[in-house]
Amino acid sequence: MTKKRVGVLISGRGSNLQALIDACGAPDFPAKIVLVVSNVPEAQGLVRAELAGIPTAAINHKDYPSREAFAAALDQALHSEEVELLCNAGFLRLHTEGFVTNWLNRHLNIHPSLLPAFKGLDTHRRVLEAGVTITGCSVHFVRCEMDSGPIVAQAAVAVQPGDSEESLSARVLQAEHHLYPHALKLVAGGILRVQGESVVGRTHPQAQPPLFSPPLD
Ligand code: GRF
Repeated sequence: MTKKRVGVLISGRGSNLQALIDACGAPDFPAKIVLVVSNVPEAQGLVRAELAGIPTAAINHKDYPSREAFAAALDQALHSEEVELLCNAGFLRLHTEGFVTNWLNRHLNIHPSLLPAFKGLDTHRRVLEAGVTITGCSVHFVRCEMDSGPIVAQAAVAVQPGDSEESLSARVLQAEHHLYPHALKLVAGGILRVQGESVVGRTHPQAQPPLFSPPLD
C-alpha cells in the first residue's frame, strides 16, 4: 500500500498529533507522518515527534516580516518533505488565503465543537454558557474562514450536569483522539473526497459516522 505523506502543523501540547502518530504506526494505516512543524519552538508536540523519529521544524512566525512570508516558509518546508496531505492539530495561527489555496482539499483541521456551532476560541466556555446538552468535535477541510469547510467526520459528547470547562474539554479531547485518526484514515485512504463544497463517499461501510462518541477507553 502506498501511504499518503502527511505533514502536521502544531503550536503546543500535541495530544492530537500523538493520536495521529499512534494511528500511523499500524501497518495498514494509509498515511505516514513525514514532518511536524510548529510555529512555537518550545511546543511539547515537537518532543513527541522527535521521540517517534519524525522530522520536525520550528518555524517561528515572529521571525517573519509578514503572514505571507511565514506562509511561504511553511510551504517550503512541507514541499521539501513532499507532503501530500496536511493536518492542523492545535495550530493557533490563521492561514493566509494563498496558503489555503495551495493546500485546498488536502488540508484538515480539528475543532472541539460540533461545527458550524461554536467556531473560534474558548469553545467549551461558550458551550457551557449556551446551555447545550450535546457538544463534540469535528474534522473538516480547511477554508479561509476560521473553523469552516466541508466536514469529514464528527463525534458527539454529552455535556454532563456540573461540567466545568476543564472536565468538558478533557472528555471532548478523548473523542478528538479517536476522531482525527478515523477522519485521516478516510481521507488518506481515498474513501471520502471533496466534491464542490461537500464531502462524498459516506455510503462506504467504513465511513459510517459515529452518531455519538466513538467508543472511549
Ligand atoms: C484541541 O482541542 C483541538 O481541537 C484544538 O486545539 C486543541 C489542541 O490540543 N484545535 P492538542 O495540542 O492536540 O493537545
